[in-house]
Amino acid sequence: MTDLGLMTRKSVTDIIAEAGEHTLRKTLGALSITALGIGCIIGAGIFVLTGTAAAHFAGPAIMLSFVVGGIACAFVGLCYAELAALLPVSGSTYTYTYATLGEIFAWIIGWDLILEYAMGASTVAVGWSGYIVSLLHNFGINIPPQYAAAPWTEFKLPDGSTVAGIVNLPAAFIVLLLTAMLIGGTKESARLNNIMVCIKLAVVLAFIAFGIGYVKPANWHPFIPDNTGTFGQFGWTGVMRGASVVFFAFIGFDAVSTAAQEAKNPQTDMPIGILGSLVICTVLYVAVAGVLTGLVPYTELGVADPIAKGVDVIGLTWFSVLIKIGALTGLTTVILVLLYGQSRIFFQIAKDGLLPRMFSDVHPSLGTPSKSQLLIGIVVAVVAALTPIDVLGEMVSIGTLFAFVLVCGAVIYLRKSDAQVARPFRTPGVPLVPVLGMAFSILLMVFLPWETWLRLIVWLVIGLALYFAYGRHHSVLLNGAAAR
Ligand code: ALA
Repeated sequence: MTDLGLMTRKSVTDIIAEAGEHTLRKTLGALSITALGIGCIIGAGIFVLTGTAAAHFAGPAIMLSFVVGGIACAFVGLCYAELAALLPVSGSTYTYTYATLGEIFAWIIGWDLILEYAMGASTVAVGWSGYIVSLLHNFGINIPPQYAAAPWTEFKLPDGSTVAGIVNLPAAFIVLLLTAMLIGGTKESARLNNIMVCIKLAVVLAFIAFGIGYVKPANWHPFIPDNTGTFGQFGWTGVMRGASVVFFAFIGFDAVSTAAQEAKNPQTDMPIGILGSLVICTVLYVAVAGVLTGLVPYTELGVADPIAKGVDVIGLTWFSVLIKIGALTGLTTVILVLLYGQSRIFFQIAKDGLLPRMFSDVHPSLGTPSKSQLLIGIVVAVVAALTPIDVLGEMVSIGTLFAFVLVCGAVIYLRKSDAQVARPFRTPGVPLVPVLGMAFSILLMVFLPWETWLRLIVWLVIGLALYFAYGRHHSVLLNGAAAR
C-alpha cells in the first residue's frame, strides 16, 4: 500500500499471498485450458452477430473484420497471459487494476466487467432465443414472434406484414433455468466442458465442410461493398465497424485467466490456452464467415439465426436441425460460464468490501453464492427480455475493450513498479505489444457508435456514484475489515 487515498494499490505480494491461501487443485493441462477458452469464446458472436455485421456493415469483407479482431485480441491475449501467470486470482482484470491504478480504478473496472459478463450473458441469451424459435419451428411448434423479441423491434413476417416485439420470453427462460442450475451447485467440470466444446467444434467444422461445396463465388462480389456515404456503412470503415461488432465473438479468451490457479504449469499452459484458443477460433471464424457470405447474399443475413439460413441453402433439413442443436448447446455453455463468472467477480469485490457482504455470502449447504447468483440471474433475464441484441452486443464489446486497455497498461506499469517479482510468463516485446494491444482496442472502440460510448459513460458515472456512496466507506483496504 502506498497511501490511503482513492488510488491505494493492493500490493502484488499481498495478492500472490491471498491466492496462495486457496487450495484449488492444479488439475488443468494445456489442452483443457484451451478447451475452456474455446468453450467461452464460440457463441452468439459467430452464430448470430456475423450475419448482422455482414448485412449492415461489412458485406463479404466481414472475413477481414474477423482478421482484425483476431490480431487485436492476440496482442491483448499476450498481456493476459503474463498477468494471469503473475497474479493467479479469480478477480481477473479487477484484481490486476487494484495492483496498478489502485482502488477507485479497480472498482470502475469491476463495474465495467458487469457489461462483459452480465450483459454478455443477456446478449448470448437473445442469440439462444433466435435459435430455439427456429428449431421449434422445425418441429411444428411456432412461438409467436412478438414474444421472442425485445419491445419495439420491428420485423417482417413471411406474409409480408410487420410486427413489433413485446418481450423476449425464451431469452429470459434460459437465463433463469441456468441460474437455478448454478444456485443448485451445478458446476461445469472440465470434462463436461470438453464434451460441449467437441459438439460446438463439430458443428462449426461440419458447416464449413458441407457448406463449402455450395458456395456461389458471385455472392462474394463486391467483396468490400461501396461505402453508402455514412461512416461505418460498408467500404473500409465498414470493415472496421464490422470488426468492432464481431469483436464480441472473441470475448471469452480472457476468462481463461481465471483458471490460472488451477493450471498445472501456468508458465506454459496459460499462454498456450489463451493464444491457442484464440488462433483456433480466428481461423474457424474467418472460414465460417467466408462460407456463410458465399452461401447467402450478405444483404439477407440480418436475421436471428444466420448460420441456419446458410444451411437452408444447402437444403439438408436434418443438417439444419443438427446445426441448431449444436448452436444451442454452444450458446448455453457461454451463458452458464458468464453467469458463473459474474458471481465470482462480485464475490471478490464484496470480499474487498466494495460491494455488500451479501455478494460474498455462500449458501451453507449448496456451497454457492446463491443470493448473488439469483440477483444476477433476475437482472440478466430482465435485460435479455427487453433489449435488442445489437444494442446489447455493442455494450458488451465496449465494456470489454475498455478493460483490455487497462490490462495492457497494467503489464507496462507492473514491469516498472514490481520489476523484481518473478514472472512465470513474460509478454514478448514490452512495451510494443501492450501498446499495440491498447491501440487496437481503442481503435475498435472508436468504431462503435456514439450512443454506445454515451451508454458506457453513463454506466461508469453510475458506478462512480455508487463507489462514493458505498464502496469508499466500506473498503477493507482503506478502513480495515471492521468497516464491512
Ligand atoms: N464470445 C462469446 C460469444 O460469441 C461471448 O458468444
